[in-house]
Amino acid sequence: MSADGVTLAPPPGARPDWTIDQGWEHYAQAEHDVWITLYERQVKLLEGRACDPFLRGLDSLDLHRTGIPDFARINEELMRLTGWTVVAVPGLVPDEVFFDHLANRRFPAGQFIRKPEQLDYLQEPDIFHDVFGHVPMLTDPTFADYMQAYGKGGQRAMSLGRLHNLARLYWYTVEFGLMESPQGLRIYGAGIVSSYAESVFALDDPSPNRIGFDLERVMRTPYRIDDFQQVYFVVPALQTLLDVTTHTDFAPLYDRLATAADIPIAAIEPSDRVFTRGTQAYADAGGRTAA
Ligand code: PHE
Ligand code: FE
Repeated sequence: MSADGVTLAPPPGARPDWTIDQGWEHYAQAEHDVWITLYERQVKLLEGRACDPFLRGLDSLDLHRTGIPDFARINEELMRLTGWTVVAVPGLVPDEVFFDHLANRRFPAGQFIRKPEQLDYLQEPDIFHDVFGHVPMLTDPTFADYMQAYGKGGQRAMSLGRLHNLARLYWYTVEFGLMESPQGLRIYGAGIVSSYAESVFALDDPSPNRIGFDLERVMRTPYRIDDFQQVYFVVPALQTLLDVTTHTDFAPLYDRLATAADIPIAAIEPSDRVFTRGTQAYADAGGRTAA
C-alpha cells in the first residue's frame, strides 16, 4: 500500500527507491512464531474460501517452511512463475514510488511483523498482510499482469489528479475482491485472506452487500479503512479484471467522475447486479467499536 502526500526523501538507510534489506537473519524466534500461528490459522480457514489461484500460489511458494519467509527464497519461484519480485520497504511509501515498483513488477512489502497481541487486527500492513495476503496472487499470470497495469494506471491517474478514484479500484479488487466460482463466491483480496475474521465475514455474514463488479461503479464508491467492508464487489474471473481495465481508456471515465456524485457506501443502485442485499446490521450496530 502507499501513503498519501508529498514526495519525501527515503528514510535514512533506505535506497533512493525506498527499498531496504529484509534482514531475514535478524528476526527473533518469537516473530517467526507469530507468522506460524497466523499462517496455520488462515490455511485451515481458507480451504473452500480463497480462490484456487490463491491456494495454488500459497502451495507453490511454500511460505510456511521457515516461519517468516526469506524474500530471496520466495523471489526465485515468483520470478520463475511470473517475473515478479518482492522488495522490502520500511512501511508505507509515497504513491509514485509504489506505482513505479508495481509498473516494474516489484511488490513493496513491509518487513516487520505484528505483535502477538495484534493477531486479529492492525491497521497498517505488516509482512503477514503483504506477503501472505498479496504474494500468492502474484503467481497467477493474469493477476500479475493486472497489478503491473495498475502501477502504470496509477502513474497516469496521478498526472490527471484522479488518484482517489483509482485507489478505490485497488481497494475493492486487490485488497477486498471476491470472485465467482462454480462452488460459490471465493476470496482473492489480500485484505480479506490475511484476516481471520474478515475471511468469514466477507463470505458468510448477512450484513454486507455483495455486488457484481463494474468499473465506474467501483470508482464512485468510497471505502472504509477501519472496519469490515460494507460492500464487496464480485468479478466473474480474474481475466475480467485485466480485460476491463486494460481495454478501457480511463481518461474519459475520470472526466465523468469529476462531476458524478459518490455512491453512498451501503447503497444498492438499480443497475447493480446483486449477489447479496446486505442487512448492514453489523455496521448499523457500530461495527468493531461495538463488538
Ligand atoms: N487503462 C487504464 C488507463 O487508461 C490503466 C489501468 C490499467 C488502470 C489497469 C488500472 C488497472 O488509465
Ligand atoms: Fe495490502
